[in-house]
Amino acid sequence: MDQQVDQLQAAAAAALAQAPDLAALAEWKAQYLGDKGALTGLLRSIGQLPKEERPAAGQTINAAKRALEARLAEKTEQLRAASLENALDAERLDVTLPGRPRAVGHLHLITQTMRDIVDTFVQMGFAVVEGPDIELDLYNFELLNIPPEHPARSLHDTLYINEQLVLRTHTSPNQIRVMQRQPPPIRVVVPGKCYRAEATDATHEAYFHQVEGLAVDKHVTLADLKGTLAALARALFGSERTVRFRCDYFPYVEPGVDLAIDCLVCGGKGCRACKFTGYLEIMGAGMVHPQVLRNGGIDPDQYSGFAFGMGPERIAMLRYGIEDMRLYYTNDLRLLRQF
Ligand code: DAH
Repeated sequence: MDQQVDQLQAAAAAALAQAPDLAALAEWKAQYLGDKGALTGLLRSIGQLPKEERPAAGQTINAAKRALEARLAEKTEQLRAASLENALDAERLDVTLPGRPRAVGHLHLITQTMRDIVDTFVQMGFAVVEGPDIELDLYNFELLNIPPEHPARSLHDTLYINEQLVLRTHTSPNQIRVMQRQPPPIRVVVPGKCYRAEATDATHEAYFHQVEGLAVDKHVTLADLKGTLAALARALFGSERTVRFRCDYFPYVEPGVDLAIDCLVCGGKGCRACKFTGYLEIMGAGMVHPQVLRNGGIDPDQYSGFAFGMGPERIAMLRYGIEDMRLYYTNDLRLLRQF
């Protein structure tokens, strides 16, 4: 019996030493010390021994049981401490680590460009107004001297909503809206979205922006137009810019001009960027046509004015060397993040 108890105790002690966690301890306890455990089995078998051997056997088994119980308690304590240690290690929080940066967005390049343009005019005393994207044909065309059969209409591939309503093809209708609303002196810029039924390519989009301008007062001359727009060109493209004004035709101005700056790439010598002209056109402008002043409720014998319109998409292309206008609105972050 003694030998049997010794063997069992040794086996139990070895198994206990191997137990990796608290769950294994519970199993171990059931296997050796539980009601159906090995040691309990031995105790029960005492009855089969001769009477005089029973007390000694009982003592031996009980001593082994107590020894194993003591070891179990010790091991339990050890494993508890280890598991706490592990948890503390795994859940350790380093409060000195820097936080995760939040991705901060920014304004779209075209919005930035429009704001640059508008800010420059605000510094020169212009007010900022806006008009509707859905515009009356009357304002988009007719009151700007573009009657129904006028050839200039075919230059604007217009998106018609119905016979009277269009998606504005330019911001110029706001010239009329502003004149009808307020008497001179007028100095306004109108930033906004425009729409055309355009087959898109590198320099044409169906959706784009314009910034319109209008100044009306007594004795406004072409010299005022030139001074104002040269100041804008230099604010946007650098103080060393030369500007060129040439005659151009728009039905709502007389005379009409186009404004160009000396080429940013070759400085005017002629290169691929300026198509070997030395200049880059940046906007249309002119002296407001007398009939347009009249349409706006202003007497052309007393007042004169100048107007202009430019596309921030084109201006940003020139400023940043972007070669395809379609890139602005494909939402490619590789482009957008650069600005
Ligand atoms: N509306 C013209 C366009 O869409 C731009 C323009 C030209 C506006 C001459 C003007 C102007 O006010 O005087 O291309």
